[in-house]
Amino acid sequence: MTQPSAQSSAQSIEELTHQASEELDRITDLESLDQWRISYLGRRGSLTNILRGLSQLDLEQRRQLGALGNQAKNLLVERLAEKTRQIKQAQQSEYFSRDRIDVTLPGRPAPIGRLHPTTQIVKEITDVFVAMGFSIVEGPEVEWDHYNFEMLNIPEGHPARDMWNTLWIDYRDEQGQQPMLLRTHTSPMQARVMESTQPPVRVVVPGKCYRYEATDPTHEWHFYQIEGLAVDEGITFANLKGTLFEFARRLFGEERKVRFRCDYFPFVEPGVDMSIDCFSCPGGDANCRICRGSGWIEIMGAGMVHPRVLSGVGYDTEKYTGFAFGIGPERVAMLKYGIDDIRHFYTNDLRFLRQF
Ligand code: PHE
Repeated sequence: MTQPSAQSSAQSIEELTHQASEELDRITDLESLDQWRISYLGRRGSLTNILRGLSQLDLEQRRQLGALGNQAKNLLVERLAEKTRQIKQAQQSEYFSRDRIDVTLPGRPAPIGRLHPTTQIVKEITDVFVAMGFSIVEGPEVEWDHYNFEMLNIPEGHPARDMWNTLWIDYRDEQGQQPMLLRTHTSPMQARVMESTQPPVRVVVPGKCYRYEATDPTHEWHFYQIEGLAVDEGITFANLKGTLFEFARRLFGEERKVRFRCDYFPFVEPGVDMSIDCFSCPGGDANCRICRGSGWIEIMGAGMVHPRVLSGVGYDTEKYTGFAFGIGPERVAMLKYGIDDIRHFYTNDLRFLRQF
């Protein structure tokens, strides 16, 4: 091993420091910075080597050069720390400028939903009756045979049960009967309301109903009904007609024609159906999908509450009379908005729903 001279050592420390500083100035990333640290200050780094070599020198030279060497080392360590800080800061501000949030940009509009057309028409219809003094009540969609049929003067085995294609709930009581069903109409609420209140009664009952039914443009297996019930002293058929005519006028305007015809429902006597003239064809087009050529569309059944229904809930039939009606709101919406197929309501096609 050659003996290092004090002069050459001092010179190489200086040169090395100079060279290291210049290199350091050009470095822009942390990885190269670490390479740099290893090559000068690492255990086998060039500065470390020089410092180690000083041990060969005599004491006085060692002291001088040692100080020089440490100074150089401290300088480089300091500059390394400074450079590390700079590079990190640069990286950070680059990151922020790339993903910067511009708070002055307008926000993305949140999609706003709307009420389903059935909900809208149910609200419109009930509003008309509320304005006439009716209140709104709701009942269960899973109902007892007792309320859906029995209390409405439709005993078991009665042929009138065939008027409602019923979805029975798969449950049997101790007698092996199936007493529960998806309500086929909102009429069971007639008995439920009267059982718990005394006349005067004026209610409308909007709600979902279910039938075991083949679907077509005017039939769905689930649909809404709005039941109406008014019971008081001295209520006559004229009250029923007046109320329903007024309803049709408020909802459809003066020009729409209304027709009552005799109809049969076991819980009313006399019973009627109320129709409205067809919006789709100018009266009686045999190919019309809506009225099938009749020129009329039935929108509700109605009638005077049967005395058996009144006595069933303990009302005095000598004192009280009443009328009831059941409206199909989807049919009303079809009329109002010219919709030609009831199935549109429940297929969830946004192109349809967004029109309302
Ligand atoms: N509930 C009957 C139906 O579903 C409609 C109706 C209600 C008729 C009230 C008369 C009185 O067909």
